[in-house]
Amino acid sequence: MAGRLDGKVAIVTGAGSGIGKAIAERFHREGAAVVVVDLKADRAEAVASELGDRAVPIAADVTRPEDNQRAVATAVQRFGKLDIFMGNAGVFDGFLSLPQYQTPDQLVEMFDRLFAVNVKGYLLGAYAAVPELLKTQGTLLFTASTAGFYTNQGGIIYTMSKHAVVGLIRELAYELAPKIRVNGIAPGGTFTDLRNAIPLGAEFGDPDKRSLFDMPGLDQFIIQSTPLRRVNRPEDHAAVAAFLASDDAAGLTGVIVHCDGGYGIRGAASAAGGDNL
Ligand SMILES: NC(=O)c1ccc[n+]([C@@H]2O[C@H](COP(=O)([O-])OP(=O)(O)OC[C@H]3O[C@@H](n4cnc5c(N)ncnc54)[C@H](O)[C@@H]3O)[C@@H](O)[C@H]2O)c1
Repeated sequence: MAGRLDGKVAIVTGAGSGIGKAIAERFHREGAAVVVVDLKADRAEAVASELGDRAVPIAADVTRPEDNQRAVATAVQRFGKLDIFMGNAGVFDGFLSLPQYQTPDQLVEMFDRLFAVNVKGYLLGAYAAVPELLKTQGTLLFTASTAGFYTNQGGIIYTMSKHAVVGLIRELAYELAPKIRVNGIAPGGTFTDLRNAIPLGAEFGDPDKRSLFDMPGLDQFIIQSTPLRRVNRPEDHAAVAAFLASDDAAGLTGVIVHCDGGYGIRGAASAAGGDNL
């Protein structure tokens, strides 16, 4: 059976783990060749070798312009073109509220590091990819978050960064039409290895060992506040990304799909943990 992305060439950033890994796998299964980009070389290599043919790993830091250019150049050298750029690499802020920052330096460090990955990384990726996407009339896709729309899906700095991603998607959708479609996915809480951008001190755990997996009670928190009473999996988001990347979504741009079990329509009953049916 023909895949949804047969013959397409895609770059996925942060593809060594979690949501990006699931997207790289789904794009590949749908027929695309995939450039698997991650800061961690071993992760990128493991995913690319698991995919086999039509996959190449790149160890790259999305905060560096030259690394984004290298990813695009690799797609063109290895597979002849670029159709899909999926900005997805991201880091978290440990749900820290503004008063929880212990010093101005810590606040500045979190802001600089987190915005460098979550916001500048997407901007630099788009900048590097656009010349090739213009040739193929391709598509840009970005992983936003429920934190791009609502409070308390992260701390102050993560929430600010994901609101910026919503602005990036909408403005680029305008600027790049009619040649390049620009869309996003907005996952709700999903169990992945998502790490804090900077060390947060002993009470927040060792940043090298701590991830969303380790937050006690997070699954119940997500289930209680989600009308579908479900923690979405990376594969759920990947299915939506594959649709948005495909020609089936040829009529869509500036759209951000809320892959969040209905968080936005939760109402008071859901928030209090009660079902309507
Ligand atoms: N997990 C969630 O609950 C959730 C919810 C909404 C949105 N998101 C977003 O989904 C995206 C993917 O996160 P995830 O949850 O799969 O986390 P993850 O940690 O499992 O995957 C992120 C990957 O990005 C890589 N990465 C980090 N910094 C990088 C850099 N500078 N350059 C290149 N690669 C880098 C990491 O090495 C990691 O492999 C992020 O943008 C995140 O904000 C996650």
